[in-house]
Amino acid sequence: MALVELRNVSKIYHVGDEEIRALDNVTLDIHGGEFISIIGPSGSGKSTLMHILGCLDSPTHGTIELDGTMIHHATPVQLAGIRNRKIGFVFQFFNLLPKLNVLQNVELPMVYSGVSAKERRLRALEALKMVTLENRAKHRPLQLSGGQQQRVAIARALVNNPKIVFADEPTGNLDSHTGEAILDLFRKLSEEGRTIALVTHDPEIAAVTPRRIEIRDGKVALQVDPKLAGLDRAPVAAEAPPPANPAA
Ligand SMILES: Nc1ncnc2c1ncn2[C@@H]1O[C@H](COP(=O)(O)OP(=O)(O)O)[C@@H](O)[C@H]1O
Ligand SMILES: [Mg+2]
Repeated sequence: MALVELRNVSKIYHVGDEEIRALDNVTLDIHGGEFISIIGPSGSGKSTLMHILGCLDSPTHGTIELDGTMIHHATPVQLAGIRNRKIGFVFQFFNLLPKLNVLQNVELPMVYSGVSAKERRLRALEALKMVTLENRAKHRPLQLSGGQQQRVAIARALVNNPKIVFADEPTGNLDSHTGEAILDLFRKLSEEGRTIALVTHDPEIAAVTPRRIEIRDGKVALQVDPKLAGLDRAPVAAEAPPPANPAA
């Protein structure tokens, strides 16, 4: 059984008398331990897909099973609980609270899940070690560089030991060198067995992950999946057509 099973999921918005199919009949599985990217141009439906996969929103049609539980009919309060226990998020603009120090920011998801103060502190320090920022625990976010702030956000995303981490354009606000370091960190976390989904419009970032899901007009347009290559199925659509014969 996959960690996430999406079946015929659509998300339809009505704006005036226009119907917008932000997601249009999407079926896909994500397995534990996968490192994937969700890629597509602006407006293609990436954020909508991430919101539904990440229990921030519910679909109009279709079913979703997350870690063995059907969640497409969950109430917003139920979704918030599932999200807190099972999902980690990393955002383009870090979304750290400026008045809390680094340690307190990382502790926050555990405050919501009712972990004792002592254990919160221990686990937050452990998470900060994973991103090599344990020596910045007492700093405020704005006393750190952009790359350091994003590492704090990654520590916060990891601290409840989530089933899956979603990172929405996590390098979009960083210079390219710092961005590469952040992608290296995700790669390392993936090698340690974490399940990670990068959401991006940038093919260079998507190239970091073995599996890529391309979204266009709310549909899965293309998948590159090393697991499917070589199996007895239709060829992976993403394979480029053979180059035209230059001698012809
Ligand atoms: N709350 C909403 N109300 C109406 N339309 C929306 C809403 N959210 C997203 N959309 C529309 O759904 C489509 C997909 O949006 P989105 O998932 O944000 O795309 P992406 O993240 O790929 O840029 C777009 O056409 C967008 O305008
Ligand atoms: Mg988006």
